[in-house]
Amino acid sequence: MRVLRRTLGTLLVLGAAVSCTAAHGDDAKPGGRRPAALAPYDRLLPAPASARAEGAGYAFGAGTVIRTGAGSGEEVRQVGELLAEQLRGSSGLPLPVVDGQEGDGIRLLLDEGAQELGAEGYRLRTTASGVTLTARTPAGLFRGGQTLRQLVPVRGTGDVPGGTVTDAPRFAYRGAMVDVARHFFPVEQVKRYVDQLAQYKINTLHVHLTDDQGWRIAIDSWPRLAEYGGAGEVGGGPGGHWTKEEYRDLVEYAARRYVDVVPEIDMPGHTNAAQASYAELNCDGKARERYTGVKVGFSSLCVGSERTYEFVDQVLGEIAELTPGKYLHIGGDEAHATPADDYADFMDRAQAVVARHGKTVVAWHQLAQGRPAPGAVIQYWGHDRGPAAEKAAVVAAAKAGHPLILSPADRAYLDMKYDTTTKPGLTWAGYVPVERSYSWDPGNHLAGAPESAVLGVEAPLWTETISERGDWELMAFPRVLGLAELGWSPAGALDWTSYRERLAAQGPRLDAQEINYHRAPDVPWS
Ligand code: ACM
Repeated sequence: MRVLRRTLGTLLVLGAAVSCTAAHGDDAKPGGRRPAALAPYDRLLPAPASARAEGAGYAFGAGTVIRTGAGSGEEVRQVGELLAEQLRGSSGLPLPVVDGQEGDGIRLLLDEGAQELGAEGYRLRTTASGVTLTARTPAGLFRGGQTLRQLVPVRGTGDVPGGTVTDAPRFAYRGAMVDVARHFFPVEQVKRYVDQLAQYKINTLHVHLTDDQGWRIAIDSWPRLAEYGGAGEVGGGPGGHWTKEEYRDLVEYAARRYVDVVPEIDMPGHTNAAQASYAELNCDGKARERYTGVKVGFSSLCVGSERTYEFVDQVLGEIAELTPGKYLHIGGDEAHATPADDYADFMDRAQAVVARHGKTVVAWHQLAQGRPAPGAVIQYWGHDRGPAAEKAAVVAAAKAGHPLILSPADRAYLDMKYDTTTKPGLTWAGYVPVERSYSWDPGNHLAGAPESAVLGVEAPLWTETISERGDWELMAFPRVLGLAELGWSPAGALDWTSYRERLAAQGPRLDAQEINYHRAPDVPWS
């Protein structure tokens, strides 16, 4: 990755340096003219490592076919089919997918020797004869296809302007988290979010599956967790849970979009739903009442009981079996009802269980004050005014080789209100307007933590105050696009003044997808 970053750094042609003089695409269509429109290669979001407009464009229209290379395999074919489906949705064109590279059209070319493109990078070249996407992996072809979607008109047909994009991500991990525990949401809503995120090159969906208010995933060896512990939520609604079949369906749906699902079972605190479902998980042997409030920090598994570790092993074993990706998130935050020594002992054993099931631990940053196991990934969710000791522990863990996922609450938490007028959301980390959520650099955010320790960024959406899709989207959009750019684009591209213009240019796309986004006053929406 380091080598690639340097290679692309020399190609860096960004923002104002990218110019596209002719009017193309939707700018050229009658009635489609936007005020002070950015040229198509200038408005890509996330900003690519390099983009240059040049030469004649390609007429994207009724005759366009998508060509996957003969012999490039079923997976490339699937990438082509999905890209066709996405482009058909906005254009209404037939867009057949055919084998073979010869002829005009959109060509998907796997070049396993293109080392410089890395695991997710791609090259996109548009000439009069078509658009050629080249990548070393099918994931790279998919990411490049999402760039192409931004170069074709929002609706209908028109020119894809001539030019070249050479692109690869700055960080390997670009995540979003959803809390389906405080309020339950069906898998269909999460799939919709996956589609919305993947078009901006987010590659990880972290699902917070369990908390005090609900347990949302069926566990065969402990069936009351979902059946009883899932039947409630904040405010007293009915709650719900996902069957394993539904969960597998979500994982597969996300995988087709090259989005990895990271499941979280939060322990040893945030466990009231489990403690309500099974008396034996409580040190006093008495089942707790189900909880519908929003307080945190009152629950704890019984750390001294061997039955607790059978529970941890069986639950994490079933979750690992459902998880093709390498990460299992075990929470570890706000265990205020667990004494510090017990916390460290419990997390030692929970981490060993994850390793035994062949997975890598991710935990919230409180693990840094315990004993993170070798390779454990630390997710930082502190904020500028947070405790110095917590930050120091995270920095020490980074220096000791633990990868970091950065989710600073006063930047990346999508449940913080934008301003005083925002109806849903919380304010404990302050208001987070769009500019604030975008204006930080993950590479140097935590003083003393080297950029090489930063695995990436993640935007969590907690749902204490969010019970319906409209509010979910209002809080996530447009801020999650900024997080996507912070995770993908080179440091030299991060600039609020240019970003706000590019973000405004996404407005018609968000409208066309019927996303309920916040018309933030700091963004010049057209
Ligand atoms: C958290 O917000 N408790 C990770």
